Amino acid sequence: MKADLPKVGAVVLGAAGYGGGELLRLLAGHPAVASVQAVSKSHAGKPLWSAHPNLRGFVPGDFRAEADWDSFPGAEPIVVFSAQPHVTLAKELEALEAAWQSAGIADRVTLIDLSGDFRVREAGVFAEAYGQAHPAPHRLQDFVYGLSEWNGAALKGATRIANPGCFATGVQLALLPLADLDLGFVAVGGVTGSSGSGALPSETTHHPTRAGDFRAYKPLKHQHQAEIVQSLAARGATFDLAFVPHSAPLVRGIFITAQFRLPEGVDGPALKARFHAAYGATPFVRILDGSPRLNAVNGSNACDVAVVVEGRQAVVFAALDNLLKGMAGQAVQNMNLALGLEETAGLWSAGGYPG
Ligand SMILES: NC(=O)c1ccc[n+]([C@@H]2O[C@H](COP(=O)([O-])OP(=O)(O)OC[C@H]3O[C@@H](n4cnc5c(N)ncnc54)[C@H](OP(=O)(O)O)[C@@H]3O)[C@@H](O)[C@H]2O)c1
Repeated sequence: MKADLPKVGAVVLGAAGYGGGELLRLLAGHPAVASVQAVSKSHAGKPLWSAHPNLRGFVPGDFRAEADWDSFPGAEPIVVFSAQPHVTLAKELEALEAAWQSAGIADRVTLIDLSGDFRVREAGVFAEAYGQAHPAPHRLQDFVYGLSEWNGAALKGATRIANPGCFATGVQLALLPLADLDLGFVAVGGVTGSSGSGALPSETTHHPTRAGDFRAYKPLKHQHQAEIVQSLAARGATFDLAFVPHSAPLVRGIFITAQFRLPEGVDGPALKARFHAAYGATPFVRILDGSPRLNAVNGSNACDVAVVVEGRQAVVFAALDNLLKGMAGQAVQNMNLALGLEETAGLWSAGGYPG
C-alpha cells in the first residue's frame, strides 16, 4: 500500500441488493477505505443488517436515502459503486456528475458501474443485447472495461469503469488466452446459481421452482455474449462462439465449460502454457488440473481455470463466485488498480470450505 495515499471515501448505490451487500462487507475490511455511505431507496433509514443480516455486529450503520456529496471536504479519492439494475445509472449519470461538480469533488470521483450499462461500446450492440435503446449512447466510449487481469494498464487512473458481467468474466478468463488461435467454433456452456438474479424474488429464483430444477435460459442470446465477443474481437479472435447459460439449484457460483477442437500445430502442453503465461503472475486466477469446484472459489475473489485435452478435443473450465470475482470482488479489485493500491487489498481472503 502506498503510504502517502489518502484514505478512500466510498459510496454504494443500490446498497440493499446482493452485490451492494458484498461491497459493504468488502469495503468495511479494506485497509484504504475510511468511510462508506450505503445508499438505498428501498431501505433508507434502516440498519444495514435489515437487508444484510450477515453484517449485523460487524458492519455498523444505516442505509441512507441519498449520498451526501458535501461530506468529502479533504483530498481523499472518492469511489462510487453503482450496483443497480440495468439502465438505472445510464439515466442518472449526468445528474450525478452535476452533483459532483457542485460539491467540488468531480475530479476526485472514480465511478464503477456493476450493471451492463457501459460494458459494450456501440449503442446498436447494446440495444440488441439488452432489448432497449441506450439512454446515454454518447457516454459509452467513456468507460474502461474492468476485466482486471486483462485491462490493468487501462484501469490505472481510470475514473469511469464498467465492471464485467459474471458469466462474461468466466468466459473471457477461459478464452482470452486463446484469442489468436483459429479455433473455428467454440461451444460454451455456463451454469449459474440463483443469486445471479438479484435479491428480489421471481418465479425463476423462488425456492420451490428452483431448488430441484435445472434449465437452460436465453440460449444463444444471453446479453453477456455481446461483451464477450467485443473483448475477443479486440484481441483479434475470429472464431465463432455459441453461449448457452443454465440455471442450477445453487445459490452462488458460475461454472463455465468451453469446448473446441485443437487447431493444427497446437498440442495440450502448448495450450496449457498459454494459461500459465496469461495468469501465472496474477493473484486471483488459479490454474488447476481436472475440474474446478465452486466450493473452492465461493466466498473469495478467486477464479479457477483448468484445461483438459484428449487427442484433438479440448475443454477449458472456469469457476468463480458470481457475487465476488463476478461482481463486487472484481469491482474492489478495479478500485485498487484504478487508485494504484495493492491489487489484492481488501480481497486477500479464501472462501469457506465446503461451500
Ligand atoms: N447478482 C449477480 O450475480 C450480479 C453479477 C454481476 C453483475 N450484476 C449486476 O449488478 C447490478 C446489481 O445486481 P444485484 O444482484 O445486487 O441486484 P439486486 O439485488 O436485484 O438489486 C440491487 C439494487 O437495485 C435496486 N433495485 C432492484 N430492483 C429494482 C427495481 N425493480 N426498480 C428499481 N430499483 C431496483 C435496489 O436498490 P436500493 O437498495 O436503492 O433499493 C436494489 O437494492 C445489476 O445490474 C446486475 O445485473 C449482478
